[in-house]
Order: sequence, then C-alpha cells, then structure tokens
Amino acid sequence: MKKNFLFLAIAVAVMFFSAPLSAEEASVELGQKLFNNPGLGASKNDKSCNSCHENGKGMDKAGKNPELALMINKCIKGPLQGEGISEDSVAMRSLKLYIQSLAK
Ligand code: HEC
Repeated sequence: MKKNFLFLAIAVAVMFFSAPLSAEEASVELGQKLFNNPGLGASKNDKSCNSCHENGKGMDKAGKNPELALMINKCIKGPLQGEGISEDSVAMRSLKLYIQSLAK
C-alpha cells in the first residue's frame, strides 16, 4: 500500500516537472513563430524577421551558413534593434531549424 502511494507520488512529480520541459523543445514551428514575432530578442521596433525576409525569402542558402547564429543575431541587433539571443537557447535553435527547413 505504502509502495503504491510512493509510486503514484513519483509518477505525478515526473509528469508535473516534465511538462514545462517538453514545452521548451526547439522546433521548426517555434522558429517560424519567432521569425514572425516583432518582440524577438527584446526588439525595440515593430519589425520582425519576416518584414524583410518574407516567408523566409532569400534564406534558401542560409541554412548551410556555418555563421548562421551570428547572422541571426546580427539581424536581431541591427534591423530589429534588439539585444541578440544566446546561441544555445531554444529560441536560437528553433530559428536555425526553421531557416534550415527553407533550404532548396
Ligand atoms: C530591415 C530588414 C531586415 C530584417 C528585419 C532582418 N533582416 Fe536578415 N538580412 C537583411 C539583409 C539586408 C541581409 C544581408 C543581405 C542578404 O544576404 O540577404 C540579411 C541577411 C540575413 C541572413 C544571412 C543570409 C544568408 O544567405 O546567409 C540571415 C540568416 C538573416 N538575415 C536572418 C534574419 C533573421 C533571423 C531576422 C530576424 C531576427 C532578420 N534576418 C531580420 C535584412 C533584414
């Protein structure tokens, strides 16, 4: 009886703590949302990546660029007037996945 309770308590704890983690996974979908989000990287204007690279236009070679993260941050700090995002963040990994998905 006690054992069952312990098992249940652990199962509930695992579900509770893993839910927010799984929401933090990088994905193409999240990358696309961020690409269209004017608030990305604490942007101070109303531009999003999509304002200039409409639906990823001109990004078909960028996925192979070894400096992709650098270019993304350059455009966040320049055109978006933002602060740049960490290279290993979920946001950066998602943006890279989205841009890589546009490769032709
Ligand atoms: C004001 C317009 C503008 C906005 C907004 C903008 N960019 Fe750019 N971006 C450019 C220009 C201009 C270049 C350099 C010319 C080129 O290579 O297309 C460029 C280049 C790039 C490249 C390199 C392309 C390649 O072929 O290697 C990437 C990647 C990129 N931008 C991503 C982004 C992302 C992600 C955002 C949003 C955070 C963004 N850009 C927002 C204008 C913009």
